[in-house]
Amino acid sequence: MHAAGIVAAAGSGLRLGADQPKALVPLAGRPLVRWAVDALRAGGVTDVVVAVPAVERAAFAAVLPDDVVLVDGGASRTASVRAALAAVSGTVDAVLVHDAARPLTPPDVIARVLAALAAGAPAVVPVLPVVDTTVVVDDGGVITGALPREPLRRVQTPQGFDRATLVEAYRRLPAGAELTDDAAVVHTIGVEVATVPGDDRAAKVTVAHDLALAELQVGS
Ligand code: CTP
Ligand code: MG
Repeated sequence: MHAAGIVAAAGSGLRLGADQPKALVPLAGRPLVRWAVDALRAGGVTDVVVAVPAVERAAFAAVLPDDVVLVDGGASRTASVRAALAAVSGTVDAVLVHDAARPLTPPDVIARVLAALAAGAPAVVPVLPVVDTTVVVDDGGVITGALPREPLRRVQTPQGFDRATLVEAYRRLPAGAELTDDAAVVHTIGVEVATVPGDDRAAKVTVAHDLALAELQVGS
């Protein structure tokens, strides 16, 4: 099985609030996008396409290996992945779609995703259990009910797909549609999405506290 990687790195990082795009923000001196690309490669995925903010192409090229393909991202994550997918070779069997915002994803997670694809899953995502009591509130913030926690999962990346299946799902997705991940994209055409265990170390850097935790994790 030949798998290619896509890294979604075209967001601005509003919630992190840095003075540059989130994917360029350094963690232990290395930009988040570089960590994400290196993680995919450490997991055995060498062909990588990165969706970047169009105006920042040169800054991204300067911090990534020369053999990484850069494409202009779009206004939403969905648009960015769609653009990157168009640049993935039609000769690969599988595509792993990863967030630049998950810099410390261990190779084991990538290995589990690849193994599920090799075993025939058309779509697979790494997941973690929900450990907090999870409730529903009304507009006033008052609890109206609780969700049973046992069947709930938090979804991480990289998410793996049979390439042709992912291409077909994006082809059929309306142009302006915005979904938060790619499992949701293939779900719209009825594809069954399998799960494998994720890893807390693959946490997403969203706010400043997440970056502080990541710095502790790498011991810098
Ligand atoms: N992303 C992207 N293109 C966009 C928006 C997001 O490629 N138009 C990417 C981000 O770069 C990130 C991943 O999708 O790696 C997950 O998105 P998120 O964590 O929300 O990052 P941002 O959108 O950059 O952050 P924020 O929502 O706080 O602005
Ligand atoms: Mg966002």
